[in-house]
Amino acid sequence: MPAVLGLLWALLAAAFLAALLLEQAQAQARRSGGGVGFFQDLIRYGKTKSDCEQRPAWLRLFDVPKRWFTHFYVVSVLWNGFLLIWLIQARFLRGSLSSWLQHLHHALSRASQNEDIESECFSALLVLLLLWLHSFRRLAECLCTSVFSNGVLHIVQYCFGLGYYITVGLTVLCQVPSNFRSGEELSVQICWYHIIGIVMYIWASLHQHRCLVILANLRKSKSGKVVNLSHSIPFGDWFERVSCPHYFAELLIYVSMAITLGFHNVTWWFVVMYVLFSQALTAVLCHEFYQNRFSSYPKHRKAFIPFVF
Ligand SMILES: NC(=O)c1ccc[n+]([C@@H]2O[C@H](COP(=O)([O-])OP(=O)(O)OC[C@H]3O[C@@H](n4cnc5c(N)ncnc54)[C@H](OP(=O)(O)O)[C@@H]3O)[C@@H](O)[C@H]2O)c1
Repeated sequence: MPAVLGLLWALLAAAFLAALLLEQAQAQARRSGGGVGFFQDLIRYGKTKSDCEQRPAWLRLFDVPKRWFTHFYVVSVLWNGFLLIWLIQARFLRGSLSSWLQHLHHALSRASQNEDIESECFSALLVLLLLWLHSFRRLAECLCTSVFSNGVLHIVQYCFGLGYYITVGLTVLCQVPSNFRSGEELSVQICWYHIIGIVMYIWASLHQHRCLVILANLRKSKSGKVVNLSHSIPFGDWFERVSCPHYFAELLIYVSMAITLGFHNVTWWFVVMYVLFSQALTAVLCHEFYQNRFSSYPKHRKAFIPFVF
């Protein structure tokens, strides 16, 4: 059982890599006039889905508003906040633990051979806090910064997104070794990799926020009033290098968590691989959207990773 979460993330990463390769193959067929089928409908959302004029009516039955992205972060703030409180209570306060979560934790986590269980536990606590802060910021951005159009996503993508934030929090919790002893003296062991991870997390979060503000401002007047819901070319910050810097920043945020966990956590590196391939897939579609729509689109911009891809 302890390997089950690692396996799940490895399978998801492989599925998104396969989807990315299939999409690249289909891009060629689309350029020669091919239609957009069920597969494309499952991988596209928002502006890249609205670009598909040939979508059959039956596919539209499964559309939900893209503004429902907000629900992902509501769920994440509540669920990961609950896990964080549970972990703090269990770790430091000898609190009463809800037994179902304790059973789940024991079933999904592994016993550590490392003598320094304290440090592993503290690293997981830090990452759960970073994940919660990330979800909280994204929720605030969805509610107060971003300007959504009438874009849509598939109901399967919506359910996947809800499940994603529950599973990712559980994955962090299960990085606490099953043989940790609850209610010990409060010990905070800051290591060098915590510092590097947190600095990188703050740097990537700041850029992600700036890029989301740039996107929102494309639809606002100088006074902050929403004046249109169209898609135009973003400029500034990391947009000068890539079409989707907010996806690149997302990848860096998950890498920063891998660093905070001490570099060696294989399960979390599978999470990073999943984020890499899922965000690359969306970035490729977004890049293609900009290139098709705007003849003046900057030629030097990559899709996702500066200078590389
Ligand atoms: N960890 C994960 O698995 C995961 C998965 C998905 C997303 N995310 C993260 O969630 C964040 C948002 O993702 P997203 O896919 O929603 O990003 P997005 O499609 O770029 O949309 C972000 C906001 O900007 C608007 N927008 C996008 N392009 C625009 C343009 N050219 N002109 C004007 N407005 C534009 C969108 O409006 P519309 O309503 O028109 O789209 C939306 O309000 C990202 O930081 C991403 O990394 C994470």
